[in-house]
Amino acid sequence: MVMQVTAIYPGSFDPVTNGHLDIVNRSRDKFDRVIVAVLVNLEKTPLFTTEERVAMLGEVTGQWNNVEVDTFEGLLVKYAKANHAKVILRAIRAVTDYEYEFQMALMNRRMEPDIETVFMVPAVEYSYLSSRLVKEISLLGGSVSGLVPPIVEDSLKKKTGSEG
Ligand code: PNS
Repeated sequence: MVMQVTAIYPGSFDPVTNGHLDIVNRSRDKFDRVIVAVLVNLEKTPLFTTEERVAMLGEVTGQWNNVEVDTFEGLLVKYAKANHAKVILRAIRAVTDYEYEFQMALMNRRMEPDIETVFMVPAVEYSYLSSRLVKEISLLGGSVSGLVPPIVEDSLKKKTGSEG
């Protein structure tokens, strides 16, 4: 019997950046199925609605057969288990990401020992990129060209009223 490995790539994706896409692209031939899972976080106020974030992700990952986009609420490990995923995929950009990711990986393992967190490193040109900075630059009228896919750039311009 051949084991099929499903990986969940969770996050806020507010909005998806070229760094996120780079990780999805790198992961898709490492796992049989990759689910990009958008957290529905009722406490945070995102710039883009869940529907908008899912639509943008769907559009930019649509050409990849084994990549799906979904949403989740509540505990990530419960969602992973319900989807028979053995892997939680997270990206680490710099040492500063490490502490938070380390805590989450160990806490998730404590709750679900069978689910492994796998860390991936994005292309070096995206190692300083974050959704937070992209939003800030766009809100302040700067250009995010080359940092996000063109459809996200357009959505950011509309949302922030910037000409970027
Ligand atoms: O891209 P982000 O915002 O850094 O992603 C954080 C995310 C979604 C991976 C994390 O907040 C999460 O897993 N939230 C779901 C709730 C949960 O499981 N919390 C316990 C983590 S140990």
